[in-house]
Amino acid sequence: MLPLTDIDAALMEEVRTGLKANPKRLPPSLFYDAEGSALFERITELPEYYPTRTERGILGDHASDMLDGAGADLELVELGSGSSSKTHLLIQALLLRQGHGVYAPIDVSAAALDHANAALTQTFRNLEVHPICASYLDGLKDLPRRGPRRLLLFLGSTIGNFEPAEATSFLRAVRDSLRSGDALLIGMDQSKDASILVPAYDDAEAVTAEFNLNLLARLNREWGANFELDQFRHLALWNEGQSRIEMHLESLGRQSVFISALDLNITLEKGERIHTENSYKFRPGMGENILQEAGWTLERTWMDEQKWFAVHLARS
Ligand code: AVJ
Repeated sequence: MLPLTDIDAALMEEVRTGLKANPKRLPPSLFYDAEGSALFERITELPEYYPTRTERGILGDHASDMLDGAGADLELVELGSGSSSKTHLLIQALLLRQGHGVYAPIDVSAAALDHANAALTQTFRNLEVHPICASYLDGLKDLPRRGPRRLLLFLGSTIGNFEPAEATSFLRAVRDSLRSGDALLIGMDQSKDASILVPAYDDAEAVTAEFNLNLLARLNREWGANFELDQFRHLALWNEGQSRIEMHLESLGRQSVFISALDLNITLEKGERIHTENSYKFRPGMGENILQEAGWTLERTWMDEQKWFAVHLARS
């Protein structure tokens, strides 16, 4: 178990509140320890998980258009950079155009940042990388400017993890941290048939199930909890009314769990669920609305042929 002082106090309160709530919930940011980040990388390669390869296709086709749309002399900053693998396409286009580039990836996973940094420095000469291990808004606060114009990347439809109202206030806060003329490139997964959405979150190899269960494994490893992993099952549900995929962990029987770091005992009934993630799927106009409500000016949108995924360029 980690020394308690190493666990962020705000995160501890969020977990305590979530586990005492009815229905129970855990924050999705907790997915991304070293194991969780590695499992997410495996998810992005699954045949059922279309978002990553669809967004990569859009970036591959339009990277230089996107940079030209954003403006001259760009520095790149990325929220939730993970492995930065899709970002390679934008960095390549940036270096081709500017000869030299600056890239600041921000992520809560130190392991993911280390791997990303190693791959980037190996692949690109003339790229300065400044990794920041922090939550999004903390990372953006006091981030030194290294160029006249910032292009902020928020890819992978991570914005879909926020409730629509929270997405708006978050994107407003992001905008407040920037200067006028800065740009945002944001990926948003689009609503589509449940027969495509559900398998993307409940794959045949059960990698997503392992990713979901890793939340409990992580609490066992780091927080001195005693969740029995084989007493839970992974659930992925399409909530049509809310236009979101939900992930839950369902208790297979009545059980008690102790979380030592929180000095907290909880009981789960048979069939009771812990809600671990929402992944909103944007209907036409929904993402555009959120950007506008947050004070951004939408300038361009790129999509794949099937209109499964959108990448928006917006100006602060
Ligand atoms: C990284 C948050 C965009 O919601 O699709 C993948 C995370 N969860 N499979 C998503 C995830 C289950 C992913 N995001």
